[in-house]
Amino acid sequence: MSTDPASAGSPHPGPAVRCAGLRHAFGTTVAVDRLDLEVRRGEVFGLLGPNGAGKTTTIRMITTLLPAPPDAITVLGRDVARQRTAVRRLIGYVPQQLSADGTLSGRENVMLFARLFDVPRRERRAQVESVLDAMDLTEAADRPAKTYSGGMVRRLELAQALVSAPKLLVLDEPTVGLDPVARDGVWDRIAAIREATGMTVLVTTHAMQEADEHCERIALMHRSRIRALGTPAELKAEIGPDATLDDVFRHNTGDALSGEADGKPADRTIETGGMRDVRAARRTAGRVG
Ligand SMILES: Nc1ncnc2c1ncn2[C@@H]1O[C@H](COP(=O)(O)OP(=O)(O)OP(=O)(O)O)[C@@H](O)[C@H]1O
Ligand SMILES: [Mg+2]
Repeated sequence: MSTDPASAGSPHPGPAVRCAGLRHAFGTTVAVDRLDLEVRRGEVFGLLGPNGAGKTTTIRMITTLLPAPPDAITVLGRDVARQRTAVRRLIGYVPQQLSADGTLSGRENVMLFARLFDVPRRERRAQVESVLDAMDLTEAADRPAKTYSGGMVRRLELAQALVSAPKLLVLDEPTVGLDPVARDGVWDRIAAIREATGMTVLVTTHAMQEADEHCERIALMHRSRIRALGTPAELKAEIGPDATLDDVFRHNTGDALSGEADGKPADRTIETGGMRDVRAARRTAGRVG
């Protein structure tokens, strides 16, 4: 396990992601604490939890955007602290905050990422067209991204993340603020790419039904720690015969529902509807406009 195959395409022993005793603090706020996690190769793994649980911080450490100490995280056998560049080559990342430039066309946005991620020059054009097509954006590819619907913007961001043919796709709340049809559109396309490539997917979401439907295993995070881990069926069975994933969430984050999550006010806890959508819509407007 100490040897590191030079080629990113080599088979790797062990899991897609392994975190051991992960910790991160912002000043006196401990965002992630004693976090152990394994994401198996090829699975869709969901990281769930209320606002402020530490999901984004965890993901930013895995994706090398926040520092992690040596031996705390490996991605496909590579140590995130020691082999940062190699890890970056393996990962496609769609952040919680939107990442498309509204003034550029869809195609230009994807081309930018192709250059950024060193997609070989002679493969670039074909690869850009291929991911645009996979995300059903070929027709809209010449329009500025600011004219896209929310669902199209999300698919554009997926295209950006997929253009380097990552082995691990990391999505931070990929469907927030989308209508049900657009949500299904995102999940269907992720499923199609997975089927074709065997890519591993690590996703955060608050949408329990989506997690139930699309994640093979789930970790429930609350107040910087993992509180429950298993398949949706296992987690539901632990609560009771007719339990839903919402019940699992409530059971493990009970105080979050009463508005005490990490000392934040009630409207920062679980927003499955309006507030959250508005927040997401504002984010979209701010970034893409
Ligand atoms: N850049 C930062 N500076 C200071 N504190 C931060 C920063 N980023 C996150 N935090 C704090 O760390 C904790 C975890 O935040 P994080 O964004 O990881 O949570 P999350 O689970 O992704 O929440 P959400 O569901 O709202 O996206 C919170 O208490 C948050 O306020
Ligand atoms: Mg977050």
